[in-house]
Amino acid sequence: MRILGIETSCDETGIAIYDEEQGIMAHRLYSQIAVHADYGGVVPELASRDHVRKTIPLIKEALAEAGLTPEDLDGVAYTAGPGLVGALLVGCSIGRSLAYGWDLPAVPVHHMEGHLLAPMLEDNVPEFPFVALLVSGGHTMLVRVDGIGKYQLLGESVDDAAGEAFDKTAKLLGLDYPGGPVLAKMAEDGSPGRFKFPRPMTNKPGLDFSFSGLKTAAAITIRAEDDSAQTKADIAYAFQDAVIDTLAIKCRRALEQCGLNRLVIAGGVSANTELRAKLAAVMKKLNGEVFYPRPEFCTDNGAMIAYAGMQRLKSGVTSDLTFKANPRWSLDSLPPV
Ligand code: KG4
Ligand code: ZN
Repeated sequence: MRILGIETSCDETGIAIYDEEQGIMAHRLYSQIAVHADYGGVVPELASRDHVRKTIPLIKEALAEAGLTPEDLDGVAYTAGPGLVGALLVGCSIGRSLAYGWDLPAVPVHHMEGHLLAPMLEDNVPEFPFVALLVSGGHTMLVRVDGIGKYQLLGESVDDAAGEAFDKTAKLLGLDYPGGPVLAKMAEDGSPGRFKFPRPMTNKPGLDFSFSGLKTAAAITIRAEDDSAQTKADIAYAFQDAVIDTLAIKCRRALEQCGLNRLVIAGGVSANTELRAKLAAVMKKLNGEVFYPRPEFCTDNGAMIAYAGMQRLKSGVTSDLTFKANPRWSLDSLPPV
């Protein structure tokens, strides 16, 4: 089976072709960072328009890269939610129409299921059951995963997502959008111990997160201190350290609660090197193992959508001739495969 995957939920146009036997046959990504940089965040209307411009040319490129024609495909999968509604509508309408024109099944995919299954694109694949930490620009969730579609939400952010907190704090430090990776780079020059920020919601039981207070603590410190490069790096270090420590504490708690020792991390923030190192150390202590996608598949991409679409198509999920973008779509409402 061979699937075309289309991702347009936010500010990246991702196209990939995934083959059950050969793996990823083509992978194309266009990032809209330059389009949104002047505004300090994603402008939904500009995102939609850019997806309109890029999606079809990238699909043509992906087919050419794989040396395939539409007759060689078995289905078309597209992100149907959650995400920005206008951006989603571009991928949904193009994906559904191509499937109709090519006489193929169309498969709507949940964006976070795509992230969650992205580690399956690697050589070292986690076995079920496991605990997944999904950390992106829009979501922070801990999920118990007993199989594809067997998702139990253990905890989530009650306010900002981890990536959002990274981006907002980076903005306060004068860094360009998206600030997460830039802040992480800046933190490399920071000195440990000069500043210490809270580990929100770790003192009481439970697996929910809250990152908006941490961002405020960083904002107060930024205002009170000088704006030398060293001070900024020290603040970036302390902020990143607090986010990572908080995530690690909750992961550990979730694993203990579930009696499991396999952890998956996915979503944009899982590209963070310090987070990966910290969770690897935690899992070593627990005699367990951590799994994550290669960095380019941590952030949004078409390969994860093609992969998740294939799993759904195999279980009989196809769309009728309509399409629906679902900007708010809970992960645990998905049916099991
Ligand atoms: O999964 P993703 O590409 O898009 C969403 O579905 O939201 O995640 C993007 C988020 C952004 O907030 C970005 O700043 C963050 O992931 N991010 C990082 C790093 N790389 C991306 N945050 C911290 N460290 C990184 N290395
Ligand atoms: Zn994402």
